[in-house]
Amino acid sequence: MTILVTGGCGFIGSNFVLDWMAASDEPVVNLDKLTYAGNPANLRGLEGSNRYSFVHAGIEDGETVGVLLREHGVRAIVNFAAESHVDRSISGPEAFIQTNVVGTLRLLEAAKGYWAELGGAARDGFRFLHVSTDEVYGTLGPDEAPFTEETPFKPNSPYAASKASSDHLVRSYRETYGLPVLTTNCSNNYGPLHFPEKLIPLIIHNALAGKDLPIYGDGQQVRDWLYVGDHCSAIRRVLEAGTPGETYNVGGNTEKQNIDVVRTICAMLDAARPRPDGNAYAAQIAFVKDRPGHDRRYAIDAGKIRRDLGWAPKETFESGMAKTVRWYLDNPAWFESVTSGAYRDWVAKHYA
Ligand code: NAD
Ligand code: TYD
Repeated sequence: MTILVTGGCGFIGSNFVLDWMAASDEPVVNLDKLTYAGNPANLRGLEGSNRYSFVHAGIEDGETVGVLLREHGVRAIVNFAAESHVDRSISGPEAFIQTNVVGTLRLLEAAKGYWAELGGAARDGFRFLHVSTDEVYGTLGPDEAPFTEETPFKPNSPYAASKASSDHLVRSYRETYGLPVLTTNCSNNYGPLHFPEKLIPLIIHNALAGKDLPIYGDGQQVRDWLYVGDHCSAIRRVLEAGTPGETYNVGGNTEKQNIDVVRTICAMLDAARPRPDGNAYAAQIAFVKDRPGHDRRYAIDAGKIRRDLGWAPKETFESGMAKTVRWYLDNPAWFESVTSGAYRDWVAKHYA
C-alpha cells in the first residue's frame, strides 16, 4: 500500500507528508512540480527513508502519474498541488487555470484509467482526495451563518474560481464515472513551513526584518484560522473514514480580523524577541491599498466532519500561534533560504 501526495513540497503538503511519515508505516510518493512555492528542503529530513520517494513532475503530466500509480500500486491520491495565492491570481490568472483546472482534470483522468484496471478490494478501497478551500463559497456578511457543504459556490477571485472549477470536476468524476472521490474545503491555515507571501509568515518575517507590516484596506476582513497540523489530521481522517462522493468542510471555529491576527503576532514577538530599540513591533504596522475583490469574511461550519467522522481541531488560536511564532524564531535559516532564493538555486542545480 502506498499513497501518492501531489504538491507535497508546499506548505500544507510538506506538513502532511511529515505528519503521515510519523503517524503511519505506509510509503508516500510525493509528486511536485517545484514551482516557486515548492521547497524540497522542507522534506530533507526524509531523504534516505525507504518509505519516501520524490518525483519532480506536474499533475498535468498524466503519463508520469499513470506510471507512478501502477509502479507503486497506489491505493489513494491526496491532491494538494495548486497555485494557491490570491494576489498572484489577480496579477496572473493563467497559471491558476493550467494547474488548478487542467492539472486536476489530467490527474483525474490518470486516476480513472488506473482505477478501471483494479479489481476486488483494491478497486473498492481506492480513494481520490481533493484538498480545496473555503474560498469557493465566496464572502459572508457579518451576521451570516458560516459556510456549510450545502452553501452554493460564489468564487470571487481567479484563485477561488479555479479551485471551484476543480471541485466541480472532481464531483463530476464521481457522478459520471463512479470514481471514489472525497473533497475537503478548509479555511485559512497557518503553521511551520508557510511561504512568506501569505499573511502570517509575511508578518513574522517582516517584523523580524524591521520592515513594514502591510495590512490591506481597513484590516477588518475576517478569516477562520486553523493550525496546519489540525488540517493534516482532518485529511487523514477523511481518507480513512470519509464516504466517497462526500465533501467535508474543515475549519478552526476561530474567526479573527486581520488586524487582530497581526497585533497578536506583534505581542508574541514583543515578549519572545523584543525589538532592540525597545519599541513595540506594532509600530511597524502600515495600512496599504486594499486587494481588489477582497472577500470580507470567511467562516466554516465544521459540524459535518465532527458529527460524521469525529474530527475536531486540537489547537486553539493561541496555542497554534504560539507554536508557529516559536517555530519561525527557531528556524531563521528557513526564512533566509526561501527569501534569498537560495533554495531556488539549489532546485535549479539539483533538478537540472
Ligand atoms: P502552496 O502554494 O504552499 O504549495 C503548492 C505546492 O504545489 C508547491 O509545492 C508547488 O510546487 C506544487 N505545485 C504547483 N503546481 C503544481 C503542478 N502543476 N503539479 C505539481 N505540483 C505543483 O499551497 P498550500 O498552501 O500548501 O495549499 C495546498 C492545497 O491546499 C492547495 O490546493 C490549496 O488550494 C489548498 N488550501 C490551502 C489553504 C491555505 O490556507 N494555505 C487553505 C485551504 C485549502
Ligand atoms: P492570505 O494569507 O493571502 O490568504 P487568503 O487571501 O487566501 O485569505 O491573506 C489572509 C488575509 O490577510 C486576507 O484578508 C488578505 C490579508 N493580507 C493583508 O492584509 N496583507 C498582506 O500582506 C497579505 C499577504 C494578506
